[in-house]
Amino acid sequence: ADATAAGSDPLAFAPIAPSKEDRLITPEGYDHQVLIRWGDPLFEDAPEFDAGAQTPEAQRRQFGFNNDFVGVFPVEGGPNLLLVANHEYTSGEDMFAPYEPGVNRAQAEIEMAAHGGSVVEIAPGPDGWRVARGSRFNRRIDATTPMAIAGPAAGHRLLRTAADPEGRTVLGMVNNCSGGKTPWGTWLTCEENFNYYFANAEQAQDPDLKAVHARYGVSRKESPARWEAFFDRFDVTKEPHEAFRFGWVVEIDPYDPAFQPVKRTALGRMKHEAATTALAKDGRVAVYTGDDQQFDYVYKFVSSRAFDPADRKAGFGLLDEGTLHVARFHDDGTGEWLPLTIDNPALKGRFADQGEILIKTRLAADAVGATAMDRPEDVQPNPVGGKVYMTMTNNSKRPAPGEPKGADAANPRVANLNGHIIELVEDGGDHGATRFRWSVFLLCGDPAVDLKTKPEEIRAGLPTAATFYAGYADPSTLSKIAYPDNIAFDPHGNLWIATDGQPKTEGIGAPNDALHAVPTEGPHRGHLRQFLSAPSGAEVCGPEFTDDGRTLFCAIQHPGEGGLVPNKVSSWPDGESLPRPAVVAIRRKDGGLIGG
Ligand code: FEO
Ligand code: CA
Ligand code: CA
Ligand code: CA
Repeated sequence: ADATAAGSDPLAFAPIAPSKEDRLITPEGYDHQVLIRWGDPLFEDAPEFDAGAQTPEAQRRQFGFNNDFVGVFPVEGGPNLLLVANHEYTSGEDMFAPYEPGVNRAQAEIEMAAHGGSVVEIAPGPDGWRVARGSRFNRRIDATTPMAIAGPAAGHRLLRTAADPEGRTVLGMVNNCSGGKTPWGTWLTCEENFNYYFANAEQAQDPDLKAVHARYGVSRKESPARWEAFFDRFDVTKEPHEAFRFGWVVEIDPYDPAFQPVKRTALGRMKHEAATTALAKDGRVAVYTGDDQQFDYVYKFVSSRAFDPADRKAGFGLLDEGTLHVARFHDDGTGEWLPLTIDNPALKGRFADQGEILIKTRLAADAVGATAMDRPEDVQPNPVGGKVYMTMTNNSKRPAPGEPKGADAANPRVANLNGHIIELVEDGGDHGATRFRWSVFLLCGDPAVDLKTKPEEIRAGLPTAATFYAGYADPSTLSKIAYPDNIAFDPHGNLWIATDGQPKTEGIGAPNDALHAVPTEGPHRGHLRQFLSAPSGAEVCGPEFTDDGRTLFCAIQHPGEGGLVPNKVSSWPDGESLPRPAVVAIRRKDGGLIGG
């Protein structure tokens, strides 16, 4: 369709029905190919994947497990791309038979090698995209890769350990969920549920540290994967500060395989879902990030200095100096970004220095009165028009403690079982602003059940079944959706929404996870339609468009995970008993624009 003609529908694909089939389904006229799977070799010397005989050495040279964030960067001279992917976590039961956490050291080392991220050069060919095995750019980063700690908390006493008395170097990154890209062409990869990797917080000696670990949910007893049985740094009683060195945004230069990854402490320490960037009107860099926990917050960092397109190198210091803010949503549709700085009267006296504020970001945000949200996942500015969209994936725990209505205008459902999306407009359309207006864009669920919600009613607190599709009123052409998680924008500014957890949503029939597309402007604003259905048990991650809008990369994460409901058993993508997380490339058979 012609997206520019007034009144036309910017999306022209034939929507697919929700499915429980163990296969990847796209609309008529589309094809997909599996680009790279867990265990695929990245280097000439890397062994082929052998499920029954996996070793730590092999895994370090192969694509990792549970791909989440996907980003592509152009290779100079084209047409090749560098594809970067996060490897969020491992599920030993889906990797090993039998799985012996805390007993089998090789399995722990394989898990650590399957974490982190990959950089992979890909090349277009007559049959679609191909991995350039052995490319000089290819790289694996894992839970043992040495990384620098930079920004205001670098060297802080709380970041010093026996192995690193300077508090400036850490081994590895874990639970990297989603991420982002900077204007200077680097990859931001976000540590999310790092708390599950550290054990025995209950026995921490120092009551202050114990309280901080509790606020972040560090495992009270043993950790699920039990790495602490082999590596002391994961045991809080043996290395009380190691957990403070995780929960950060990590910056990586995908073009330089020797680049040492850097944990950027100025962006705060939390369960970062993603970190997406936009430029303020004066050229400063804004980074939006959500803290994925029930009743946690949405944040925005703004750099002190402006981005200079002529000086790529200068970009590498931009995220070390600036102000981290947390969002307060007022019930009247306005809001403000509250600074988490040592001169904020609400923080003065409670924290010794800026480094401590950043290490204990959640406690600082509690103190300034941020708005507790329904699990903030992706937060992303639309490159077309600049409005910011943020997914609240769900919150079964409302009413909130001390909330008389059980909800507020920005989190309007008491028992938010399906999730919602907020649309935010910065004052003056400036990403450097400290005030904004916001509204609910989408209340997810089954539009056939209740689409009568009016915007003014949203502010009053709503029942679980209420839905709202940005005012689009014809339920017969809308798709069901629940648990919005990763989002992306196509070149026309349509919002693409990937889901994580739909098989748990009885309210919409518990279909497999999905990818949906919805126009954000014009008469079809809110007209949401399903584009993809994932194999059983898998969530849909990425998604990432090429600049020309003709390829869409999706990461299919944890196929077959769970197994508690019938549509979670998977043999995707190879039809074999062991499913494998993988990145797929989706194209239109006629080579046209995806969704158009
Ligand atoms: Fe790893 Fe918030 O999803
Ligand atoms: Ca996510
Ligand atoms: Ca997930
Ligand atoms: Ca999720």
